[in-house]
Amino acid sequence: MRTFQMGKSNLQFSRLVYGVWRLADAEDTSIKHVREKIDLCLDQGITTFDHADIYGDYECEKLFGKALADDPSLRSQMQLISKCDIALMSDKFSDRRVKFYDTSAEYVRASVEQSLQNLSTDYLDLLLIHRPDPFMNAAETGAALDQLIDSGKVKAVGVSNFEVWDWRLLQANMRHPLVANQVEMSLLQRDAFTNGNLSAMQLDSLTPMAWSPLGGGALFGDTPETRRLAPIFERLAQEQGASVDHVALAWLLAHSANILPVVGTNNPSRIKSLSNILDIEIDRETWFELWTAAAGQEVA
Ligand SMILES: NC(=O)c1ccc[n+]([C@@H]2O[C@H](COP(=O)([O-])OP(=O)(O)OC[C@H]3O[C@@H](n4cnc5c(N)ncnc54)[C@H](OP(=O)(O)O)[C@@H]3O)[C@@H](O)[C@H]2O)c1
Repeated sequence: MRTFQMGKSNLQFSRLVYGVWRLADAEDTSIKHVREKIDLCLDQGITTFDHADIYGDYECEKLFGKALADDPSLRSQMQLISKCDIALMSDKFSDRRVKFYDTSAEYVRASVEQSLQNLSTDYLDLLLIHRPDPFMNAAETGAALDQLIDSGKVKAVGVSNFEVWDWRLLQANMRHPLVANQVEMSLLQRDAFTNGNLSAMQLDSLTPMAWSPLGGGALFGDTPETRRLAPIFERLAQEQGASVDHVALAWLLAHSANILPVVGTNNPSRIKSLSNILDIEIDRETWFELWTAAAGQEVA
């Protein structure tokens, strides 16, 4: 699998990233089963794993970390992303009155320490601020993020769901470069392609990462959009000897901005063939054929 250099850093991530959000939803969450999924990814060169402190009501990092504790040799074969700043309403935090964002230095540092402990590791390859915090003190947050990189606990920092004005404010208060912005992008969520977000990421050297690249599975539901897309997916899948979900992911990979899809399937039989996506060709006209079907109208 090709690797990709993240932003202005020298970090190399795999071209496909495996997202761990749904890990705790699986029927089997034993170490053996988690390890099986990790191995299926690593065997194909999918070496980058996307976590967040809150996934699975704060349980996913721990489930994954058990596999790393069981076999510490795994850590050097992978890159770990985690995120922080969303404070969820949860039985684990019964004193919370409301869901909120927290980018204070104290919260960010404590969250990273907890993620390191959960994941049985002493560093994260990438820490993302999960959502823009309207109450952010950019000087305080920026300094805390710089310190985390200086300490070696985090190799690089990026953002998620940020608009250009959000990340430029944070970047103006940091010495180290922000290297990524993870936003929702798929055939069902195309805003970033036209609202300036993807352009600004390229201008500012933030690697674009696409969460829910299959719309969380909604691309294969039964809606007007999916009914228009399905016959095109099927034709392309047949022409290229691929599956329809692979065609949908290849649509993102075809873009010149080098978008890294963060794939979320929990199904081992789907995981084991993910790298085939890299062989699918989507030319310009096909890219727009899919866009047009998804939008329900031709471009202006
Ligand atoms: N930064 C953020 O704010 C943010 C937000 C959400 C997610 N994320 C990240 O993005 C990752 C991916 O998100 P996601 O899980 O929503 O991604 P996704 O890949 O768009 O959706 C995965 C879902 O689609 C289903 N699916 C896959 N192929 C299918 C097919 N051929 N037919 C029907 N269903 C199919 C999967 O079911 P099976 O499991 O049965 O295959 C799974 O439920 C997460 O794990 C997380 O790391 C980040």
